[in-house]
Amino acid sequence: MDLPVAEPIKRTLHEMIDASDLGYSGIVPELAEAFNKFSVRNWNWAIDPTQFQLATDVALASIQVLGKFTNPGDKIGLSSPTYYNIFNWITDVSGHAVDIPLARDTEGTWTLDLAGIEEAFAAGVKAYILCNPHNPVGYIPSRLELAHLADLADEYGVLVLSDEIHSPLLYAQSTFTPYLSINERAKRTGVVITSASKAWNLAGLKCAQIITADESRAQTIKTLPESMKMGSSLLGAWASVAAYNEGEEWLATAIELLDQNRKLVQYLLTENLPLAKYRIPDATYLAWIDLSAYQPVEPAAYILEFAKVAFSEGTTFGSTGAGHVRLNFATSPEIITEAITRMASAFAK
Ligand SMILES: Cc1ncc(COP(=O)(O)O)c(C=O)c1O
Repeated sequence: MDLPVAEPIKRTLHEMIDASDLGYSGIVPELAEAFNKFSVRNWNWAIDPTQFQLATDVALASIQVLGKFTNPGDKIGLSSPTYYNIFNWITDVSGHAVDIPLARDTEGTWTLDLAGIEEAFAAGVKAYILCNPHNPVGYIPSRLELAHLADLADEYGVLVLSDEIHSPLLYAQSTFTPYLSINERAKRTGVVITSASKAWNLAGLKCAQIITADESRAQTIKTLPESMKMGSSLLGAWASVAAYNEGEEWLATAIELLDQNRKLVQYLLTENLPLAKYRIPDATYLAWIDLSAYQPVEPAAYILEFAKVAFSEGTTFGSTGAGHVRLNFATSPEIITEAITRMASAFAK
């Protein structure tokens, strides 16, 4: 995000540097407490602080957790278009990716293809990576969808790895449901991996959180390598404490700005590229733009060549992303305006 860091986070980091407090992290119990309070305030979900573990980042945590609960060669499900690294995580544990693409209902709203998921689970999928909220499309699965997913996961013995890194980035009227808050079946089947790093722009500080709500899952998570916990940075852990405890005012201001930007994207597309399709996201600062009417094959490469603006190529999010680009609109209205008008100029050639 092109935003200045939140004051409470800056202050915490400055204080740590001034105190030469730059050692290893390991255990920071204050983080479980801060996350819990944030979660209760925002989503009415209380965690068990004894089932909360620090990790280096969401990517490494996901690879470690998948490695614990699956075997090489196992089928691992995902729903494209999805965050491109999820494909890499599956490769890293020598898994076999099974894509059950997102579906759309009659109003164009994204949904999980629960019939497709059941078919895949019945055919032997061992773990399913849920992106909740969803990068790149900005959709948030409903409580009903998640309850259905939990039923299927429990019935077929599938682990649900719920990547909830974008969960604090919600617009007014959006409701986010943490997977583990659903019911007992979700608690038995789920592992949540999250971080303050997207919402407060802290990715370089390296700190994620692994959360479970089931004793036996928690015991397995405790056997993850020690380097996992030690891999999170002390600065990242305390910046996250500051974010969860004192960062909500900053976040509300950031979301106001992002709210204007998500609408600006729609306005600019309507004005300049009327054949583009874009559904305003319910969460995150990502715009998923269907440009297939203009350039069905690799539109981002085309726009880079002819307008010198770099968007993320849709196909990196899975083959269902063909003809799409992803734009990160956590920047100034001026940059967004220039990016989209230049994009339009590429197609006018
Ligand atoms: C859905 C999702 N998961 C994970 C990550 C990466 O998180 P980390 O930097 O903690 O590995 C991202 C980054 O954009 C993301 O969008």
